[in-house]
Amino acid sequence: MSDFPQFEYRQNALYAEQVPLESIAKEFGTPCYVYSRNAITTTYNAFQQAFSDDDYLICYAVKANSNLAVLNLLAKLGSGFDIVSGGELQRVIKAGGDPKKTVFSGVGKLADEIRMALAADILCFNVESIAELQLLNQIAAAMNKMAPVSLRVNPDVDAKTHPYISTGLKENKFGIPIEEAEHIYRSTDIFPYIRFIGLDCHIGSQLTELDPFIQAGRKLVDLLHRLQSKKLRISHLDLGGGLGIRYSDEVIPSIQDYVSALRETLGPANLRLIIEPGRSLIGNAGLLLTKTAYIKHTPDRSFAIVDAAMNDLMRPSLYQAYHKILPVIKSEGDICNYQVVGPVCETGDYLGHDRKLVLKADDLLAVMSSGAYGMSMGSNYNTRPRAAEVMVDGETIHLIRARETIDQLIASETLLPM
Ligand code: LLP
Repeated sequence: MSDFPQFEYRQNALYAEQVPLESIAKEFGTPCYVYSRNAITTTYNAFQQAFSDDDYLICYAVKANSNLAVLNLLAKLGSGFDIVSGGELQRVIKAGGDPKKTVFSGVGKLADEIRMALAADILCFNVESIAELQLLNQIAAAMNKMAPVSLRVNPDVDAKTHPYISTGLKENKFGIPIEEAEHIYRSTDIFPYIRFIGLDCHIGSQLTELDPFIQAGRKLVDLLHRLQSKKLRISHLDLGGGLGIRYSDEVIPSIQDYVSALRETLGPANLRLIIEPGRSLIGNAGLLLTKTAYIKHTPDRSFAIVDAAMNDLMRPSLYQAYHKILPVIKSEGDICNYQVVGPVCETGDYLGHDRKLVLKADDLLAVMSSGAYGMSMGSNYNTRPRAAEVMVDGETIHLIRARETIDQLIASETLLPM
């Protein structure tokens, strides 16, 4: 099957579901993120089917793409959410998501965010340090509430991914060393307002192999057994997110194989399995549509200067990440080796190196696999308004975020009085 079944050529024109991308560019301009509703739904359903009748909860990692329409679609499909800030919690609530299906991750939850999440009765806090546990206990006491908690343990497993997105090694800032966790779980008397309900880990992102998940899962199950033998009641195991997607020619385990591996590792344990997929749910359901502004040939190189830049899609600049770049209309002509770059004033501003394309000014390009960590990591660097976002549903195009205006961008700034 194609990597992008919802984005395919008909004759020479690239479509999103039933809509030619060219017509989206005409109506909404560029740069523009385009998502396929069908792609998101199909992937969500694949996770659901893989779990069949198990007790499970899919908590979509909001950070991957936090547009309200995306969250609303996932909420309608029954998804829970994994949040990392008070802002993400507000988005989930606004999008109709259920706080009772929401887990709160992150190393630096602030007091206000903790208060907000306790007031909203979220499912669980994934706690990453003793200091955080102390603060949570204190705030819960003041609110006269019990705080449901999983400890995020750091299993010291090599996820074999980019160092910036690897989180489960002992030198990373994340989690509590697994050897210390048992002791903390048993100190319930020091934390009277904490109810330990789960065990959590997340070892990294864009994993292309199942083995690191299995190793981490085994370590968690060992800890679980130790806790159970001490009569501690744990009702869920949260194995985080991390399943990769194919950006170029990576071979990625299927969702079915991933879920089966987790279930096997877990064995017949009588508890709920939570996962927090982000990229694997939304990454290949989105692309970034951009227009070529200039073609520039130097003695050394040929540049396609496009209207999207590192502020729109930071992944290439930040992680040297590879995204396929496809012509929206395939045309005949001389193939040239292009450096596809944006207008931002940095050499590191690029979307793709050495791309063989037939291209002229005003031609449209699609930067594929941009649904996850694209718009959500966007910025206003170089005072560039952020892109528009649309969701295609069959023949219909929904504008789900209007292009930002420069007025909006500077609205909260003020001049000095004199
Ligand atoms: N749960 C936790 C606690 C996480 O920290 C993350 C991602 C996820 C779940 C979702 O992981 P996923 O299924 O998407 O791999 N900006 C980077 C990725 C950063 C991932 C951070 N944590 C990128 O563009 O590759």
